[in-house]
This record gives sequence, C-alpha cells and structure tokens, in this order.
Amino acid sequence: MYQSILTEVDVDVGILTLNKPERHNAFDDVLIAELTVGLRELEADPRVRAVVLSSTGKSFCAGADLNWMKRVADYSPEENLRDAHQLAEMMSTLNELSKPTIARVQGPAYGGGVGLVAACDIAVATYDVHFALTEVKLGIVPAVISPYVLAAIGERYGRRYMLSAERFSAAEAYRIGLLHEIVPGDEQLDEAISEILDTLLNNGPAAQAECKALIRVVAGQPIDQETIEETVQRISRVRASPEGREGLAAFLEKRTPNWIVG
Ligand code: COA
Repeated sequence: MYQSILTEVDVDVGILTLNKPERHNAFDDVLIAELTVGLRELEADPRVRAVVLSSTGKSFCAGADLNWMKRVADYSPEENLRDAHQLAEMMSTLNELSKPTIARVQGPAYGGGVGLVAACDIAVATYDVHFALTEVKLGIVPAVISPYVLAAIGERYGRRYMLSAERFSAAEAYRIGLLHEIVPGDEQLDEAISEILDTLLNNGPAAQAECKALIRVVAGQPIDQETIEETVQRISRVRASPEGREGLAAFLEKRTPNWIVG
C-alpha cells in the first residue's frame, strides 16, 4: 500500500497517479521513494506495455516539497547528499523505464514537476495548464531535473526559464518541445492519450525498449565513427532478434505480428 501514489493496471497499461492533492503533489522523501518503487513495479509487470503518469487534484505536481527541502538543508552533508541521490534515482528510473511513458498533465507543474513531464517519452496537457521552473526564486537550482529538462527544451529555453523562473503557458511548452500535444479539456486529454496508447501498443515491445536505449546512447553524440558503429551494432542485433524476425516476416506475409493480441 502506498501513501502518496496510486498504481493500477488497465489491461496492458500501467497507470501511476500522484495522489497528494492537498499538497499539489509536491514530492517529499515518501513520494520520491514510492514513485521509484511504483515505477519499478510497473516495469516488472509483464502485463504492462506502457505507463501513464497522472495526478489527482488541481496541480500536476508542485515540484519538491519545500518543507522537505528545508528539512534536508539541516541534515549532515552525507544525509543531504543521500537524499539528493534518491531524487536523482527516481528521475533516472522514470527516464530509463524500458516501456513507453506518457505524462497526462491536467494541471500546473512547477520545478521538479516540469522534470517529471520532461522525463516521460510523450507529454500531453490541457490548454489551461502552466509551467514554471521556480527554483531560483527560492534560492535553489533545478539541478537534478536539468538533464531531462534541457533534453526536452534545449539550452536556449533552459537559460530563459531557469533564470527568470517565469510562468509559461501550455502553448509555449508545446512550442519549445516540453509537450507533444495540447488539448482543450480533460475529456480530450483522455481521448488523446488513448489514441497515443493505441498506436504504441501496435508496436514491438522489445523494439520500443531497444529504441529508448538507442535514443539515450545516440542523442547528443557527435556523428563520428564510434556513434556510427554503435548504430550498426544495434540494427544488426535487433533485426536478428526473435521480435525483429517476427516483425519483418509478418509484414512480408501480410499478417499481424504475434505481439498484437486480439
Ligand atoms: N511544497 C510544499 N508545500 C506546497 C508546495 C510545495 N512545493 N506547493 C504547495 N504547497 C502547499 C502550500 O504550502 C499549502 O499548504 P497550507 O495549506 O498548509 O498552507 C497547500 O499546498 C496549498 O497551496 P496554496 O498555495 O494555498 O494553493 P494555491 O492553489 O493558491 O497555489 C501553487 C498552488 C502550487 C501555485 C502554490 O502553492 C505554489 O506556488 N507552490 C510552490 C511551487 C513551487 O515553486 N515548486 C517548486 C519547488 S522547487
């Protein structure tokens, strides 16, 4: 049983819901630990083909719990570091989940909440939400989330929004690459996510996991001999794998591949 999150499996989709609405889903040590365990639970569940990260209440996530941040600042340097490592572990667990992840953003996201959105593979929000990287307003920095945020919005917008801590709209988040889709309301949010899930679930699960690993290794690398060799190794391995063979054979034989049930 979790205190601050809910997990459920709806046929082949894992849904992890931040569930501390009275605190706008701000994350403290408990929520961070539960998110990490909940993600690992869905990763290990063979029924789960994709994961939706959602929230209850008004906000998607108000970032780090500022009471927790204040408490941690008084810890010994070792404890303080250990705590920061736990946040980093949660972010990298989400980022490196082998299954496709979708952020369902129904309300505003601040600080670490922006990090969660950025660490998901796909992000969809309603028009009315807004975002802010507020850390510098509080005299701190968006350090742990920065690799994910910068991978999503790039250094240029990172400079603006990390330094100004200003709010930006869903339309702006869409424009700069944090969001893939914006929709008018909650109903359309569920419809859009359901459509994305339908397309995701048609694809080879092992290929999707390989794709995520590929992106992590290749993104940001120079196109040199080492990177080229890495890509050669990967395609040659994956096309000879059982799923690769099945996918190619299914196409050529004009039949449905065996990972699509029903
Ligand atoms: N950490 C801890 N508590 C938080 C929180 C956070 N990040 N965000 C909100 N809360 C708490 C508030 O302190 C308040 O507690 P209280 O009821 O004991 O007073 C409760 O959640 C409700 O928040 P409130 O500010 O009254 O609601 P609101 O709807 O007016 O505003 C926010 C909501 C999220 C816009 C506002 O609380 C806010 O700006 N929070 C800080 C977000 C932030 O900068 N996060 C980045 C941290 S690095």
